Amino acid sequence: MFNNIRTKLTVSYLVLILAVMVLTSFFLLDNLEQYYLDYQSRAQMAAANMVAEFTAGYLRATPDVVAISNMAESFAREISSRVIITDHRQRVVGDSLRVGGLVGSVLDRPEVELALADGVGFSVQYSEQSKQHVMQVAIPVKSDGTVLGAVFISSSLSLVYRVLGDIRLFLQTATILSLFFAGLLGIVFAHRITGPIKSLTRATELMARGDLTVRVNIHSKDEMGRLGDQFNNMAGRVQAMTRQLREFVANASHELRTPLTSMNIMVKTLRDYPMDAPEREEFLKDIDNELERMTHLVENLLDLSRLDRLATEDTMQMVSVGSIVESTLEMMKKKAQQKDIDLSYSITKQTAKALIVPHQIKQVVFNLVDNALKYTQPGGSVSVTLRQGLRDLILTVADTGIGIPPQHREKVFERFYRVDKARSREQGGSGLGLAIVREIINHHGGRVWVEDSMGSQGAVFVVTLPLAGDELI
Ligand SMILES: Nc1ncnc2c1ncn2[C@@H]1O[C@H](COP(=O)(O)OP(=O)(O)O)[C@@H](O)[C@H]1O
Ligand SMILES: [Mg+2]
Repeated sequence: MFNNIRTKLTVSYLVLILAVMVLTSFFLLDNLEQYYLDYQSRAQMAAANMVAEFTAGYLRATPDVVAISNMAESFAREISSRVIITDHRQRVVGDSLRVGGLVGSVLDRPEVELALADGVGFSVQYSEQSKQHVMQVAIPVKSDGTVLGAVFISSSLSLVYRVLGDIRLFLQTATILSLFFAGLLGIVFAHRITGPIKSLTRATELMARGDLTVRVNIHSKDEMGRLGDQFNNMAGRVQAMTRQLREFVANASHELRTPLTSMNIMVKTLRDYPMDAPEREEFLKDIDNELERMTHLVENLLDLSRLDRLATEDTMQMVSVGSIVESTLEMMKKKAQQKDIDLSYSITKQTAKALIVPHQIKQVVFNLVDNALKYTQPGGSVSVTLRQGLRDLILTVADTGIGIPPQHREKVFERFYRVDKARSREQGGSGLGLAIVREIINHHGGRVWVEDSMGSQGAVFVVTLPLAGDELI
């Protein structure tokens, strides 16, 4: 039962409230009682002193019991107490209580004994007889240093204790009420906290079982709400990544199957049908082409999976990007010539350095220029520029080829995406070239996109690479 947050929260809430209320009540009542008693005793003492002063004259000669009692009565009325005066042998010579008073008898009280010994008698007791608390004070009546008798004042504390009792009752009621409301509030509050936790727990369980469509519905604006949002974000990303992965595997299998199927047919044909040498040579050449395409595809797949691994083994180096671009282009010059395409480049800042993995940047330049040559007709041109921006190096590859319609410009970077599948296959493309480019550029902290060619013919690819600190202008 105590194993859930809700109960734990509510119980600790209640215990706290109870502790605070009990402690407060205790201190409050205790202090009030002290204060009242203090006040009362001071008042009684002052009255006793006054009575003693008045009585001193009466006690010197033979005490006039009636006069003393009259005086006692008038004082008693004044302070709502009982006033008794004794002589030095504890015999009562005046009592404010006229009917049933103690005049003539001996007042055998420890307070009076103390007063007669020139001290002060004081006590607070519960009187069984009158069923109430009483305060008693006795002080000596003195004349010229001799103790002549004692003044004994006794007053009821019932009013004080009744007030204290009322306050106690009030505090008890308040405690019970606040426990009740705190409990209620605790339950509601705990419900608001544990509700989202429960739905998150359920959602993670479902997700662990493979349901990636689960989302939680937490609307609060606090930490719980943020946790819920984060969960939904994460679930969304996991779902998207899983879908991408599935698509990737399906696409890759499909791409591998196509050349396999045609090779299968060609091998069977070679085996089953008699052919002359040139014909056989033709078939073997086709098989060779398919094999090359497959090798290329598998190489690209391996490249991608290597790039997917977060910690790439390739270490970055501080090198001049210009010379890497230049050497790659020199290597591709021949290919351009074969296709009768004019490949030109302009590198404005040859020495600008950036933190890169050289062979990866080579591959980026190669893939972009390879595409430009592939999708440009003979007689066209491809121009490459490398210049320095404020914070990065900017590489552009522009051609005069068929171009890329705006709606495809984002998608060409997806794996296996091709604007014209048949045409790409014809050219030996796998649809992975630009995916590899984007992956590499992301690793380098740069960006790559297809620029709007502003109505002119062809495609323009732009790549940015962040400059190293001391190269910044
Ligand atoms: N320079 C370009 N001109 C026109 N289309 C291009 C160009 N570069 C890329 N594309 C389009 O983008 C697609 C994806 O390119 P890529 O990933 O390199 O795959 P592949 O070249 O193997 O087909 C290509 O199939 C093509 O449709
Ligand atoms: Mg390509």
